[in-house]
Amino acid sequence: MNVLILGSGGREHALAWKIKQSPKLSKLYIAPGNAGTASVGENIDMGISDFEKIKDFVLANNVDMLIVGPEVPLVEGIHDYFLADIQLKSIAVIGPVKNAALLEGSKDFAKDFMTKYDIPTAAYKTFRKETMNEGLAFLDTLKPPYVLKADGLAAGKGVIISESLSEAKVELKAMLSDNKFGAASDKVVIEEFLDGIELSVFVLTDGKSYKILPNAKDYKRIGEGDTGLNTGGMGSISPVPFATDEFMTKVENQIIKPTINGLSSEGIEYKGFIFFGLIKVDGNPVVIEYNVRMGDPEAESVIPRIKSDILDLFMGVTNGKLENSSIVIDERHSAAIMLVAGGYPERYKKGDPISGLDLIEDSIVFHAGTKQELDQIITNGGRVIAVTSLGKSMEEALDISYKNANKISFNRKYYREDLGDDLKILQN
Ligand code: AMP
Ligand code: GLY
Repeated sequence: MNVLILGSGGREHALAWKIKQSPKLSKLYIAPGNAGTASVGENIDMGISDFEKIKDFVLANNVDMLIVGPEVPLVEGIHDYFLADIQLKSIAVIGPVKNAALLEGSKDFAKDFMTKYDIPTAAYKTFRKETMNEGLAFLDTLKPPYVLKADGLAAGKGVIISESLSEAKVELKAMLSDNKFGAASDKVVIEEFLDGIELSVFVLTDGKSYKILPNAKDYKRIGEGDTGLNTGGMGSISPVPFATDEFMTKVENQIIKPTINGLSSEGIEYKGFIFFGLIKVDGNPVVIEYNVRMGDPEAESVIPRIKSDILDLFMGVTNGKLENSSIVIDERHSAAIMLVAGGYPERYKKGDPISGLDLIEDSIVFHAGTKQELDQIITNGGRVIAVTSLGKSMEEALDISYKNANKISFNRKYYREDLGDDLKILQN
């Protein structure tokens, strides 16, 4: 089988690394990929939103399956584009159609969906430019902190949490009347602040049945002790120690099942990953957000724990027979540490040589922002490389990853040294 993956981050390298191990694979292409994906497949210089170019490539190279890494092409309707095209419609696409991608593409849609299907989420109201004054009055009725969310995709920057009522009001005005996030903030969801600890839960579904993948915790802030600016993610661990069997049963019954059933009631045949961004509040799971893809950097700790052939699972998704596939999970713990370029998530440099990759022992290196230039691998993004290790315990997995993270060098390399510390405290 010939497979094309869209994307260029650590998540896509992890997917490519796993797919490469499948005996069902013939050719693996990644567009546009990075220096890491080039070591397991062939990188294709093609934009993830350039549907026509993707079509031409798929047809010219007999691609049988398209795996969509990031959300943008899904929200733009790449799966629908394939379904509507007579030459493409028999090609498998892993990732939902546009209507379902709205679970990530529109916070208002996701909140409506959860309300309709009784899925626990924070109380909320949605406002538009025309109802901004009502939004301002609504803020007056709430207690701090105030949570404001741009409705559409805003590259992870569309959520504002403010302790100050006046600042929240300024933000609401900036979003609704000054188009702070462009069309993404034509609508703004204002919601109740939830206090708890977050985790990420993933399923793979064919629209009817689903497989629960290993859960993970992602570290979002740049600074140790969860301080400073939000990033794309500074690392992840899997499994999450506080996601006990009892808690995961609640997640399955109160969140996963109603979501799958709800999609099906809406007439949507969802094929792909669903990422549940959850928060544990008083022992119960509550949905913070849906994403319609794997997480990044969660994929870098989750995928290495899947023992089953991932192409088998994807084929089950495509032909609606996922029910017949089994998923075997590695019981070991996994830890992915993200090495980032100094300055990230603000200004940072690209193009610095990376060394030490040949010194890594007992870890997997997943490339994120890297590029091959002649015989040198150089930095090409803020998040540069994830170092993933498996171990008998979270501590052991972290120790191996840290030992190896230390061996990799590039100008102004930075990583958080406190991953897992919050969970160790909870455990003790
Ligand atoms: P989102 O893009 O919806 O995942 O929001 C980004 C981050 O903001 C989440 O990962 C949470 O850390 C935080 N957040 C979002 N909504 C809430 C909420 N209602 N209460 C507390 N924190 C939230
Ligand atoms: N790690 C969070 C995300 O992928 O959105």
